[in-house]
Amino acid sequence: MVRLILDSPSGGYPVLMGTNLQRELRNVITRMDPTGAAIVTDTNVRPWAVKVAKAIKGAGLKTAIHAIPAGERSKSMLQLQGVLSFLERQQIDRGGCVIAVGGGMVGDLAGLAASMWQRGVRLVAVPTTLLAMVDSSVGGKTGVNGRRSKNAIGSFWQPSAVISDLAAIETLPAPGYRDAFAEVVKYAVAMDRGLFELLERNAPRLLERDLSMLERVLFRCVAAKALIVAKDERDRGPRAILNYGHTAGHALEAATGFRVTHGRAVAFGMRVAARIALAMDLCSKRVVDSQDALLGSLGLPDTAPRADPKRVLAAIALDKKARRGKVAWVMPRRIGHAEIGHSVPGAIIRRVVTRSLA
Ligand SMILES: NC(=O)c1ccc[n+]([C@@H]2O[C@H](COP(=O)([O-])OP(=O)(O)OC[C@H]3O[C@@H](n4cnc5c(N)ncnc54)[C@H](O)[C@@H]3O)[C@@H](O)[C@H]2O)c1
Ligand SMILES: [Zn+2]
Repeated sequence: MVRLILDSPSGGYPVLMGTNLQRELRNVITRMDPTGAAIVTDTNVRPWAVKVAKAIKGAGLKTAIHAIPAGERSKSMLQLQGVLSFLERQQIDRGGCVIAVGGGMVGDLAGLAASMWQRGVRLVAVPTTLLAMVDSSVGGKTGVNGRRSKNAIGSFWQPSAVISDLAAIETLPAPGYRDAFAEVVKYAVAMDRGLFELLERNAPRLLERDLSMLERVLFRCVAAKALIVAKDERDRGPRAILNYGHTAGHALEAATGFRVTHGRAVAFGMRVAARIALAMDLCSKRVVDSQDALLGSLGLPDTAPRADPKRVLAAIALDKKARRGKVAWVMPRRIGHAEIGHSVPGAIIRRVVTRSLA
C-alpha cells in the first residue's frame, strides 16, 4: 500500500492506494469517530458498498446504504434530493459522515450532498473506477449536471480521506478501464516525464490490469494532482493544466451528443493540442509521435472519431466565448511539461481539427 497526504488550503487528508484495504478503511473511520455513516453507491457497485459496510462494522457504527441507479443520468438534482433525504432519514448529524463508494458519478453526487447536508459533513471517498481513483476522487470538486450543462451545480468540498482499493478495478468493464488511461497520459504529458516513461515501458502489464504496476501509476497520478490542488484548490489559475486535452475533447463530446466517451474524447483532444503546439513551434514532432504511440499502446488508437468538424469547431468557439475570449489552450512543450493560457490562431485550430477528424 502507498499513502500520500494531499495538502490543500482547506485542510490535508490522506489518500491510501493499494489492494484489500478493508482494515485501513476501518482504521480511518475509527479515527474519525463519526456519529453515523451513510454509504452512497450505485446499483452496479452495491456489492462493494456492502463490503465497505462490513469492514467498518467493527467500528461500532450505525451504517446504511443508499444505491442510486448507475449511469451519468443519475448525476442530477433529482438524485441529489434522494441522497439528502437518505441522510435525513439516517439522522446524520454534523458529526456524521458520508462514504461515497463508486465511480466519479457517485463521488461527485455524494460529495455535493456531503457539502450541503448540515452545511457540510465529512466525506470519505472510496473510488471504484480507475477514473475516479486517478482523477475525480481527489481534489474536492463535486457536482451534478444541469438539464443542459455538465457539472453546472457543484461545490468545492475536500474529502477527509480517500481509500483507493485497486481490487475494485478487477470487475470494471474493459472500455471504461481503458478509457481512463487518457487521464493518466494527461498527467504524464503535462506534468510527469517519469510517469510517461513508466507507462511506455509497462503498457501491456497495465492493460492486463497488473495491480502492483497500477499502484505505482496511480500514486504518480495522485501526486501530480495533489501538487496542483495544493497550489490552486479553487481552480483560478495553475489547476487549468489538468485541462490538457480537454478543450478539443469537451468540444468533441458536445458535438457528438456525448456518444464519444470522455476518455476517447480527451485522447483526441491531446492529439489535437500536441499538433497545434507543433504547428506553433511550441513542441517538437517527437512529442506528437511519442504521445500518439503511448495512447495507441494503451488501447486508445488514432482512429478519427466520427464527428462533423464544423460542430466541433463551433463547440470550441463557444468555450472561448464562455471564457470571454480568454484562451484555454494547454500546450505541451515537451514530454512532462505543459503550459496554460496559450492563445491559438483560429486558422491553426481549424486546420488541425479538420485533419484530425478526416
Ligand atoms: N470531480 C472531479 O474532479 C471529476 C474529474 C473527472 C471526472 N469527473 C466525473 O466523473 C464521472 C465519470 O466517472 P466514471 O468514469 O467513474 O463513471 P461512473 O461513476 O459512471 O462509472 C462508470 C460505470 O462503472 C460502474 N462501476 C463503477 N465501479 C465499478 C466496479 N468496480 N466494477 C464494475 N463496475 C463498476 C458504474 O456503475 C458505472 O456503470 C463523470 O460524471 C465526470 O464528470 C469528476
Ligand atoms: Zn477529464
